[in-house]
Amino acid sequence: MERTLERRCALITGAARGIGAAVARELARQGVAVALLDRDAADPGLRALAAELRGAALGADVASYDEAGRAVQEARAALGGLDILVNNAGINRDGVLWKMDEAQWDEVLDVNLKGAFHCIRHAAPLMKEGGWGRIVNVASINGLRGKFGQANYSASKAGLIGLTKAAARELGRFQVTVNAVAPGLIETAMTAAMPEEARRRSLEEIVLGRVGQPEDVAAVVAFLCSEGARHVTGEVIRVDGGQAM
Ligand code: NAI
Repeated sequence: MERTLERRCALITGAARGIGAAVARELARQGVAVALLDRDAADPGLRALAAELRGAALGADVASYDEAGRAVQEARAALGGLDILVNNAGINRDGVLWKMDEAQWDEVLDVNLKGAFHCIRHAAPLMKEGGWGRIVNVASINGLRGKFGQANYSASKAGLIGLTKAAARELGRFQVTVNAVAPGLIETAMTAAMPEEARRRSLEEIVLGRVGQPEDVAAVVAFLCSEGARHVTGEVIRVDGGQAM
């Protein structure tokens, strides 16, 4: 493997577990210095992973403009720079649209969409200055095709795709690429509570016939961060085993 990412510095949000943790592991394996952000800096999973990867563990709620800004500055200080941002923190608060309350809507939009804006807003100036950068947003196939019971989540992820493309246009001249991955069903805590019937229906859609693993997403995120992907920007790559084809 060509280690083109050696000595790069990355901030990964929602890194205590699941897809974020797998992304942190993969980037670290490729020689990237990593700062792991999650809601609670004292989270045992976050602390253990940060220790394993010799990275920084940062506590912040990405839904807060100020907390996200502070975390970006802490990451830069801890790593000595910041040239990769992976906006992975995300939540779901499912329910049919006609029963969804305002808090359910706001919470999901605030974390999944506004949270990514906050981190990009604070990290982009550092990347512009460095003349190199990679931003990868973790969207979802449900942002591409919508999902029953997930109007808030689908809207947040569709918004994230729009944000990805606008940011790609604005930051391209500084050699900062901005892309998104759109995972399908992936085996994590977020999907562990899925009703059995919904899970079975999703699995039926996946042409590869297997549920995706966090590492499947991490590999594509790492590619988008690599030198090999330097001419790829504003792109959305499905990592779904053909689920939304
Ligand atoms: P997860 O629930 O296992 O992990 C998400 C992490 O984000 C948790 O550690 C959580 O504490 C953190 N987080 C949540 N809100 C936060 C906030 N406000 N500030 C900071 N950290 C916060 O979820 P999973 O499955 O690993 O999901 C990661 C991303 O992938 C999410 O954006 C999710 O929407 C997306 N995704 C997941 C799919 C799946 O099937 N698991 C499919 C498509 C997209």
